[in-house]
Amino acid sequence: MCAMSVEILPCPPERFGELLRTAEIGFSEDAPDDLIERVRKISDPERFVAALDAGQIVGTSGVFSVSLSVPGGELPTGGVTWVTVLPSHRRRGILRGMMRQMIDDCHARNEPLAMLWASEASIYQRFGYGLGTWSMNLEAETMQVRFAGDPAGTGSFRMIPAGEGMDLVAPVYDAARSQRAGFLGRTPDWWVGQLPRTDKDAHGGEARRLVVYETESGVEGYAVYKTKPDWGVRGPNGTLTVDEAVGSTTRGTREIWRFLFGVDLVRTLKTWRLPTDHPLLGLVAEPRRLGITLGDGVWLRIVDVKTALEGRTYGLAGNATGGLNFELQDEYCPWNAGRWRLDVSDGHGVAQRTDKPADLALDANALASLFLGGFKATALAAAGRVGELRPGSLAAADALFPTVLQPWCPQEF
Ligand SMILES: CC(C)(COP(=O)(O)OP(=O)(O)OC[C@H]1O[C@@H](n2cnc3c(N)ncnc32)[C@H](O)[C@@H]1OP(=O)(O)O)[C@@H](O)C(=O)NCCC(=O)NCCS
Repeated sequence: MCAMSVEILPCPPERFGELLRTAEIGFSEDAPDDLIERVRKISDPERFVAALDAGQIVGTSGVFSVSLSVPGGELPTGGVTWVTVLPSHRRRGILRGMMRQMIDDCHARNEPLAMLWASEASIYQRFGYGLGTWSMNLEAETMQVRFAGDPAGTGSFRMIPAGEGMDLVAPVYDAARSQRAGFLGRTPDWWVGQLPRTDKDAHGGEARRLVVYETESGVEGYAVYKTKPDWGVRGPNGTLTVDEAVGSTTRGTREIWRFLFGVDLVRTLKTWRLPTDHPLLGLVAEPRRLGITLGDGVWLRIVDVKTALEGRTYGLAGNATGGLNFELQDEYCPWNAGRWRLDVSDGHGVAQRTDKPADLALDANALASLFLGGFKATALAAAGRVGELRPGSLAAADALFPTVLQPWCPQEF
């Protein structure tokens, strides 16, 4: 329970900046004025929640109204963000109180999903969040990485000045988004936060850059990255960090990554959040030299089971036919709990209550993991997260939920 003296309320609009600055303490990161302004532009201020102790902000959180790509479409989703509690007030139930308010608000707004990036994975599972994507991370020695094929021999690269380029790259992002679940839709105000805003930043040499790869067909790939210079006795030793690299074609993806691995004075390339089926794995001659590690990516919460299940398509080609009864355990959102039947015809699902015997038993976390298509019921069952009550039901679920391409959320928020 929340400490008696702490109230949890929508943040008064005039305290929005103060709310985000309070989060500096929990995150140990600056929230400068320009960041606050950018967040304000993509926010619905009434969706930011403050925990107040005698009027002082001691807890912060917010929900962005986003549109998440899901298999075969997109769904309105609450993007949970800026979650902190002051160290002086930790472990008194303040996060629990804020999360309750945010999830109930998503429910009231008919947002069937909530999602977030977790600072620590164990925090949110108690609220029914399940892993939606893996994050493949790279820490590669650039000189050791060779591409298996030759350069396209066509097309060119262009460095785009800070503050420009949205019109060039948005179609590439949208094309990639149409192929995978997990991408957020981006308004122009969201793009402002993703693209370089200044040619030079306070840290010298670490300003973000935008490069596009163009052919006779237009822009086919882009990357946002920054470089950090370093020198050693053996010469240049810089690090290039890729924020986002996206291609709309096979060629665009290949050439933009070839570019990133070829930037002069760089010896280490780092990036995070790639899907585990990223084409780069097949593009390089020695995949182990990419220095791959795997971590948790985005976490998903099914807020409304019926709307969510009816809002995606099923089957690898999106045209499966089949059905499943499942018993869902969901103490945190009790309106979802109980027995459901999912009937799928030509890829489209209808979810209804049933009193027929269940084929599978699972909790809200496992259903969330299945939802974006990146996890198989059989694999979750092997970890004890799904129970098969009727033989053959795991295989039936595996014919419905997984997608051809892994879900990918290229952006943290
Ligand atoms: C994470 C944070 C917001 C938790 O806030 P809090 O008010 O202390 O959390 P609560 O007291 O409401 O805890 C609710 C439950 O989560 C658990 N929990 C809280 N923080 C946790 C953590 N970091 N790891 C694991 N479990 C955690 C609590 O033990 C409690 O469990 P219970 O229900 O079994 O009793 C706070 O510690 C914080 O600001 N951390 C630094 C910033 C951060 O990581 N923010 C999250 C960004 S995604």
